[in-house]
Amino acid sequence: MKRVDTSRSLAHVLVCTNQRTDSDLPSCADSQGFEVYDYFRDWLDERGLLTRVWLTQTHCMGWCHSDGATVAIYPDDIWYRAVTPGDCQEIIERHLRRFDGGDDGDSGSQPPTG
Ligand code: FES
Repeated sequence: MKRVDTSRSLAHVLVCTNQRTDSDLPSCADSQGFEVYDYFRDWLDERGLLTRVWLTQTHCMGWCHSDGATVAIYPDDIWYRAVTPGDCQEIIERHLRRFDGGDDGDSGSQPPTG
């Protein structure tokens, strides 16, 4: 095992895109989870921040809601549930805007996708 160097990461945004198939509980995939993920991805990509603000799709984080997806942001350690694309800009202003324009061009490291 090797410890990952996270020192270059400014923040980590986790978006649930879980698709539940085994119960009637809500699934974030059906509650605009992918649209929420795409909103953050596009905003970060347009600013060259995807290598410094990590963005991860997750399975169920336990706060399922039929009105929107669950989102967690670190290091702020703030979680939101029932997030829709219409909420994303407010979350960005609260937690990510401070990084806009602050990228020094160092690519840092990004966890593998897939
Ligand atoms: S399915 Fe997304 S938090 Fe449970």
